Amino acid sequence: MKQRMMMAGLWAGLGWALATTAHADAVAGKMRAATACAVCHGPQGLSMQPNVPHLAGQPEIYLVEQLRNYRSGKRHHEVMSVIAKPLSDQDIDNLARWYASLQLSVQEP
Ligand code: HEC
Repeated sequence: MKQRMMMAGLWAGLGWALATTAHADAVAGKMRAATACAVCHGPQGLSMQPNVPHLAGQPEIYLVEQLRNYRSGKRHHEVMSVIAKPLSDQDIDNLARWYASLQLSVQEP
């Protein structure tokens, strides 16, 4: 019984993962990012401007959600709302996959 419930959970999780990011393509995301995002967020997702956040290594689900929110108007920012407007679901998935795939290491001071 317990095992069956675990399997059901697994399948539900898998279905969700497939539905959201089935065809995300990090290479396509990287190419898009190089021309559309790097000028502000840095070539590897590390921003060099004090008012621009880093994107490298952020969770993929979080990045997808933020970009969809900018696009829909749920989250508003004068620059990002304009940038996100023309992005397709596929573009967003690809960009999020690329930035989430970048590995960071952290050093305590
Ligand atoms: C002209 C500069 C500029 C460009 C180009 C730009 N961004 Fe941004 N981005 C910003 C700024 C500034 C913010 C912070 C906005 C805020 O406070 O909501 C931001 C925020 C974000 C966030 C939210 C990050 C977080 O931690 O919540 C995401 C995701 C994002 N940008 C993705 C992208 C992507 C993908 C592209 C390319 C398609 C892009 N940005 C292009 C300036 C830019």
